[in-house]
Amino acid sequence: MAKDWLRWHEDYGTAGSSLARRLEVVRAYLERALTEALAGPDGQRRLISMCAGDGRDVLPVLARHPRGRAVRAVLAELDPELARRARETAAELHLPDVDVRTGDAGRADTYRDTAPAHVLLACGVFGNITGADVRRTVAALPSLLVPGGIVIWTRGRGDGGPDASARVADCFAEHGFHELAFTSPSDARFRVGMHRLDGTGSQPVPDRLFTFI
Ligand SMILES: C[S@@+](CC[C@H](N)C(=O)[O-])C[C@H]1O[C@@H](n2cnc3c(N)ncnc32)[C@H](O)[C@@H]1O
Repeated sequence: MAKDWLRWHEDYGTAGSSLARRLEVVRAYLERALTEALAGPDGQRRLISMCAGDGRDVLPVLARHPRGRAVRAVLAELDPELARRARETAAELHLPDVDVRTGDAGRADTYRDTAPAHVLLACGVFGNITGADVRRTVAALPSLLVPGGIVIWTRGRGDGGPDASARVADCFAEHGFHELAFTSPSDARFRVGMHRLDGTGSQPVPDRLFTFI
C-alpha cells in the first residue's frame, strides 16, 4: 500500500519529535546555503526541492532570509494536497517566485528548466528509493547544479548495521562534492547533510532519476 504522506507530515507538529528536530537542521542549513550560494551573472539564485512535501522546510526560510525573495524556486511534489498546501503557504508568505509543481520529481523534466540550480534539496528522498536510484540521482546532480551549487539532503541511519547515511555521503564524495556540514545526533536516527559541488557536471541527466519504493 502506498505510504500516507499526509499522515507522515503530522509528526512535524509533535514538539521534540525526530521530524521536528530534523526540520530545524534543514532550515538552518538552507539559511547557510542561501548566504553562501553564489549568484549567477544576472544576480539570480535558483532552488529546486525534490519531493517537497508541504514546503515547510523551504518557504519560511525564503520569506525571512535577506536573499530569499530573490530566489526563483521550484518545489516538485506528487501529492496534490501537499502541493496545494505548499502553494497556499507560498501565497501567504508573499513569495511569487515560488513555483509549486504537482508532479513526479523522479523525472528530471519536472524541473529541468530551472537547472542549473544554486541550491537543491533532496529531503525525505534517499530513504525511500533503492540504492541504485540513490547513486543515479547523486550522479546526475552535478549536471543539475551550477559549479559551487549546494545540496541539502537527509537520510535515516536505518535499523542496526552500518549507518545508511554514510553510503549517501560517500556517493556525494565520489561525484565531485565536498561536505559542508553533517548532523548525526546520537539520540535520533535522522541525518542531514550539506554538500557543495566542486567542479562542473558534464554527464547528460537521465530522464528518470528515481522511483519511490
Ligand atoms: C518523506 S516525505 C518528504 C517531504 C519533504 N521533502 C520533507 O522533508 O518534509 C516524501 C515526499 O515525497 C513525495 N513523493 C513521493 N514520490 C514522489 C515523486 N515521485 N515525485 C515527487 N514527490 C514524491 C511524497 O508525497 C512526500 O510528500
